Amino acid sequence: MPRTICPRIQRTSLHAMLRAALRACWRSSLPLAAALAWAGPAAATAAHADLARGEEIVQAKCFICHGVEGESSSPAFPRLAGQNGAYMLRQLQDYKSGRRKSSTMQPMVEDLSEADFRALGAYFASRSTHGHEVLDPELAQVGQYIYKHGNPDAGVAACAACHGANAHGTESLPRLAGQHAQYTVNQLRQFNKRERTNDNAVMHGIASKLTELETKAVAAYLSGLK
Ligand code: HEC
Ligand code: HEC
Repeated sequence: MPRTICPRIQRTSLHAMLRAALRACWRSSLPLAAALAWAGPAAATAAHADLARGEEIVQAKCFICHGVEGESSSPAFPRLAGQNGAYMLRQLQDYKSGRRKSSTMQPMVEDLSEADFRALGAYFASRSTHGHEVLDPELAQVGQYIYKHGNPDAGVAACAACHGANAHGTESLPRLAGQHAQYTVNQLRQFNKRERTNDNAVMHGIASKLTELETKAVAAYLSGLK
């Protein structure tokens, strides 16, 4: 019988939701236009060149799976819209070097440069994000509890502590909001088995303590966020 946290969740979920709603915005993200205006004309030109280069690569290669806007209409492929630049740069470098193993992604990036990776990061970070319709709201509510509070009994840390109250991540930590639930579940399983070969062990420690139900629940919750 797998350990379940449902009974406790149902009693406390309303309370948890209220607390979450009251929590102040965790990360203020500077919109691109404002960032460009603030950085001055030279930086703005460089940033525009990056965006154009990023878009060019996406339209040549990446769109087939991830969509032109990073919206990725198939759940088999991760959404990249709104993903954070420094996180994406590291993942692309790791696919290229083979540190993060993927027979699909490695050939996609082998002839791209670090400048290309930065351009791709800037491009995807600037795309607008969308949440999915949540099909099982009760399951998502369990996920919300895990996301905000973790599971103290099992020693699972609150996801929000690192990925942020809105799951937007930070420059170097991934955004999880709006991701396809199937991709999130797959990655958590990979972390658990140490099959995500470039992990830094933090996510292994967390994923290995999640039950199957908690894994699916947190993925369902995250898919509905924008
Ligand atoms: C044939 C389909 C396909 C194409 C084309 C493709 N990808 Fe991917 N991409 C995938 C799959 C599948 C994964 C998940 C692999 C894994 O589990 O590590 C992925 C993962 C990623 C990730 C990791 C996302 C994360 O949240 O960690 C990034 C970044 C990425 N792709 C960028 C790109 C870029 C940039 C291009 C174009 C140069 C591209 N992909 C082309 C299928 C594709
Ligand atoms: C102590 C900080 C920390 C906590 C807490 C944490 N994470 Fe992470 N997470 C990371 C880091 C760092 C990465 C980047 C991958 C790596 O370096 O291993 C990551 C990556 C991920 C990814 C892969 C995203 C992608 O785009 O491929 C998922 C999914 C994820 N975390 C889900 C969760 C969930 C769900 C929880 C809560 C149960 C959680 N994380 C708690 C630090 C954390």
